Amino acid sequence: MKQIVVTGGAGFIGSHLCERLLNEGNTVICIDNYFTGRKQNIVHLLDNPYFELVRHDITFPYYVEADEIYNLACPASPVHYQFDPVSTVKTSVIGAINMLGLAKRIKARILQASTSEVYGDPSVHPQEESYWGNVNPIGIRSCYDEGKRCAETLFMDYHRQNKVDIKIIRIFNTYGTNMRPDDGRVISNFIVQALKGEALTIYGDGTQTRSFQYVDDLIEGMIRMMATDHFTGPVNIGNPNEFTMLELAEMVIRLTNSTSKIIFQPLPADDPKQRRPDISLAKEKLNGWEPKIPLEEGLKRTINYFRHQFII
Ligand SMILES: NC(=O)c1ccc[n+]([C@@H]2O[C@H](COP(=O)([O-])OP(=O)(O)OC[C@H]3O[C@@H](n4cnc5c(N)ncnc54)[C@H](O)[C@@H]3O)[C@@H](O)[C@H]2O)c1
Repeated sequence: MKQIVVTGGAGFIGSHLCERLLNEGNTVICIDNYFTGRKQNIVHLLDNPYFELVRHDITFPYYVEADEIYNLACPASPVHYQFDPVSTVKTSVIGAINMLGLAKRIKARILQASTSEVYGDPSVHPQEESYWGNVNPIGIRSCYDEGKRCAETLFMDYHRQNKVDIKIIRIFNTYGTNMRPDDGRVISNFIVQALKGEALTIYGDGTQTRSFQYVDDLIEGMIRMMATDHFTGPVNIGNPNEFTMLELAEMVIRLTNSTSKIIFQPLPADDPKQRRPDISLAKEKLNGWEPKIPLEEGLKRTINYFRHQFII
């Protein structure tokens, strides 16, 4: 049994990770300031004596004994990370320094939840880890993109300079149960709009593509990455199957039996036109890991969750 810290553990991905780690017999210390996370995501874990919940902002140091740290704390959707961009940078950068300092002091292995956003609006397609990215340093998404890039730098420097045992994963678009209905991400937007019978809003002409990964596939990839030896990453964890926004909207309308129409609005600044992971490295290093849950199956589970949780 390990003692494992999960920062951002009350969020969408963190709550799934806490549950999986507990199911595997570990003690989990969930650290969250509830900026975007919700107690509702973890309330079913509170009776478990091996689950500890700490209200704490990781921009301030925190000391605890642990074998492993998963650093997920950071708002992930544009509406939330742009709400207080300075705080977003602080969470990524100062939060990383605090958690890396802790890992160094207690000799814990630490995994950073980085993002495909480090590739920006990529000029290489699909993106492999060796691609350095095409990021605007002064745009409205920069607080997130550059914050995450700086966090990767810090992880590598703590590794080179202080021999901290680090892991970096670059997560591509992930969706599933425990997402917030108001987080502004395309899947939650479409599902809520379809369930309410409102028009589905596509930004741009709908030909831009994205690849979507169901959360269970990501969690499996995270656990396998944490278990590797002599491999820091970064490694892409995502689903390489691409869909246009129009295809996604049509699939959501079909699966919800909705009568909603589709409307088009101008594309926001710096919105990447295409994003798809090359997952060859993950397959090679993570014992053949690859996504298992097709979009249609994942959407059905997520739609079912939204129907029951939010009584739409
Ligand atoms: N969901 C995705 O598609 C995706 C893609 C790439 C990367 N990621 C990364 O995965 C991680 C989790 O994302 P998510 O989708 O679950 O988002 P989320 O917003 O649901 O979860 C983030 C959690 O971090 C907490 N948090 C934010 N700032 C904090 C702070 N200063 N101190 C303590 N807790 C804080 C929030 O309250 C929330 O519980 C993030 O680091 C995100 O950048 C997510």
